[in-house]
Amino acid sequence: MTAFFPADISGRAFIKWVIFGKILKKFLLVYPLFCMISHFPGKNLSLLYFFYGGPTMLSKKLVTAFNEQIAFEIHSALIYKAMQAYFAAEDFPGMANWMGVQYQEELAHAEKMFNFVCDAGGRAEMLALEQPRNEFSSPLEAFETTLAHEQIVTERISKLMELAQKEKSHAAQICLQWFITEQVEEEANASLIIKKLKMVEGDGRGLLMIDQELAQRVFVPIATA
Ligand SMILES: [Fe+2]
Ligand SMILES: [Fe+2]
Repeated sequence: MTAFFPADISGRAFIKWVIFGKILKKFLLVYPLFCMISHFPGKNLSLLYFFYGGPTMLSKKLVTAFNEQIAFEIHSALIYKAMQAYFAAEDFPGMANWMGVQYQEELAHAEKMFNFVCDAGGRAEMLALEQPRNEFSSPLEAFETTLAHEQIVTERISKLMELAQKEKSHAAQICLQWFITEQVEEEANASLIIKKLKMVEGDGRGLLMIDQELAQRVFVPIATA
């Protein structure tokens, strides 16, 4: 600022110019930086938002965690699609149907999360996926793998919820509540099938009955927006 003051300025005016310049510098450099870091939710900082971008409902950490979970949901879909193929090859059309519906559900979960991230102002990104397992030793092993996988998903969703709480994102918490409820059902479904498969102990007639029961499952679309 000192470059702009007139050459014949008095000593007192000079001091004022210097002080004013220092305050202005502080405002221009420190204050916006502070606002960028702390976000100041609910306050009108439209000028700062114009230069530095406004806050979103999701922090960068949350967006990253949601993107990882979107990938994990699609990975889950692939796991169940591979199981569908296994059951189809082993002549269990009912179990293949159950896995096909599970595949559709997982894709719907990914879609729901994807739409949430976009709507909340985050940048959804697609990540690389692991190859799923294609072979199983028995229907029981496939469903035990399903339950173990769902338990991992439950743990991941719980951690995501903890992060949403830490980051004080109410929107993310509301979105994740749906997934927490869904996981209770996911684990219960797989557990019940495992119990039934253990009951019949590989008996052909018992397996046929379970297969017929699982043929009844239909995909019920969920609200993805
Ligand atoms: Fe899921
Ligand atoms: Fe699932």
